[in-house]
Amino acid sequence: MSKVLLINGSPNAHGCTAAALEEIAETLQKEKIQTELVHIGNRNIRGCISCGKCETNGKCVFSDIVNETAPIFEEADGLIVGSPVYYGSPNGTLLSFLDRLFYSTSFSKHFKVGAAVVSCRRGGNTASFDVLNKYFTISGMPVASSTYWNQVHGFSAEDVKKDLEGLQTMRNLARNMAFMIRAIAEAKEKYGLPELERGAFTSFSDGK
Ligand SMILES: Cc1cc2nc3c(=O)[nH]c(=O)nc-3n(C[C@H](O)[C@H](O)[C@H](O)COP(=O)(O)O)c2cc1C
Repeated sequence: MSKVLLINGSPNAHGCTAAALEEIAETLQKEKIQTELVHIGNRNIRGCISCGKCETNGKCVFSDIVNETAPIFEEADGLIVGSPVYYGSPNGTLLSFLDRLFYSTSFSKHFKVGAAVVSCRRGGNTASFDVLNKYFTISGMPVASSTYWNQVHGFSAEDVKKDLEGLQTMRNLARNMAFMIRAIAEAKEKYGLPELERGAFTSFSDGK
């Protein structure tokens, strides 16, 4: 059975982001996709210290929710990251989590389907959405989209329940992701994954 990992980056377990993710999870389950929600926003998650130890250890030097979530991400076919908007950006705890999760894990993320979901009261949603999508698009992960950018509006979960278009966007996103996961699984069987070239790492440190 295919599986999608949902990350709630908000400190609020039952807030606006949770309401959006619940709508997605329910729809995915109707599509016969297994879901697992990991709530990270209430944890004390420090940022990446660029020590590079993960290259040899295969995991982050800090043993916390990042290393606990890594194996769930590895087995998942899709990843949905939900964030409240803080000062026009995804919230800091979530960014620390994602920096370390993506940087410290060497397993292939190629063709796992990704999607970001943001929740704001009034503004900063699309900028936050753009930031989160960058984790997927540097990792060979196709991005599932919907009938609007994946956002809900509110200050409380009750507000989000009234955001009918936001919830509709979440359900359409979930169905599109389910379709992509099924289509990619079939295509993998038929054609295999596309070749990925590695090795070139140019940052022009020689000044040329
Ligand atoms: C520190 C902080 C900064 C915020 N900044 C914004 C903002 O820039 N734009 C906005 O519309 N809402 C902002 N909000 C409101 C939340 O993003 C919004 O209510 C969100 O839906 C809460 O999601 P949650 O219930 O999942 O935590 C901010 C809230 C906090 C606590």
